[in-house]
Amino acid sequence: MTKHATPPQEALDLTPLAGRIGAEIRGLSLAPGLDATILRALRDALTRYKVLFFRAQHHVDGTVQQDFSRAWGEPVGHPTAPGQKDEYLLELSAAHGGKANVWHTDMTFLSDYPSVSILRAVDIPPVGGDTVWANTASAYAHLPPALRRLADELWAVHSNDYDYSVNQTGSDQAVDAYHAAFVSSIFEAEHPLVRLHPLSGEKSLVLGGFFKKFSGLSQTESRHLFDIFQAHVTRLENTVRWRWNRGDVVIWDNQSTQHYAIDDYGDYPRVVQRMTLRGGPATAVDGRRSRQILPATNPAGHATGNAD
Ligand SMILES: [Fe+2]
Repeated sequence: MTKHATPPQEALDLTPLAGRIGAEIRGLSLAPGLDATILRALRDALTRYKVLFFRAQHHVDGTVQQDFSRAWGEPVGHPTAPGQKDEYLLELSAAHGGKANVWHTDMTFLSDYPSVSILRAVDIPPVGGDTVWANTASAYAHLPPALRRLADELWAVHSNDYDYSVNQTGSDQAVDAYHAAFVSSIFEAEHPLVRLHPLSGEKSLVLGGFFKKFSGLSQTESRHLFDIFQAHVTRLENTVRWRWNRGDVVIWDNQSTQHYAIDDYGDYPRVVQRMTLRGGPATAVDGRRSRQILPATNPAGHATGNAD
């Protein structure tokens, strides 16, 4: 477990937003030169609360966001997603098909998918476009014991060639084009269904929209089991919902959460920009680690990104 020399609540003005996930940090201006004590408190708070919300960070532009992200960890880019402003900063614009209205963890088609994602609201619709996060550690903790034992044994393949049409209610050429670029190269990784958090040791479920099938099980068996476990992840008790304003910044622990960007804003523009930080391969309860299947050789310096 992470040792808290100073409990996060004492170093930060922190208000939990839901019972199991999410906290708002007030009175703090995000910047690359944050005091080391504050940065450590933020990391500890992120491990505990999984998602940290910061209102009205209007001074943060793409450059400050990148510099702050570098202070937190090592940036990684996305291997295929359109909308990359430069090597690491990814812009997700609804008008260009960059929607993420499916539950997912960012870039689980990579063996070492990102540890942390940092998202900034650039243009937000007048109503709608909220994001919901789910705590995949509390999902595991609240499984019935028999399902926990089963989960501990399972491994699954994740792919960027996900079924993006599942949440489309009609034809959307921008979304179709975005998806075509997204799968221009196929990435697949095998993860344990249950991973140990590298900082806390907490067990969490690794599922979401890039799930393809469970190793050694049929497609039908995989889908039934996926539905059972995924339903535990997305129980409302495990979630927190954020109403964005322009200038908000949200940081989430991508190794113990899933998220869903609600597509309920019609043709209004919605633009967010994201940085992702390098994570390591997931470690299973028996010590084995995630592996990359496709491409056969993990490209050096690759990115790990998301459906959004
Ligand atoms: Fe995402």
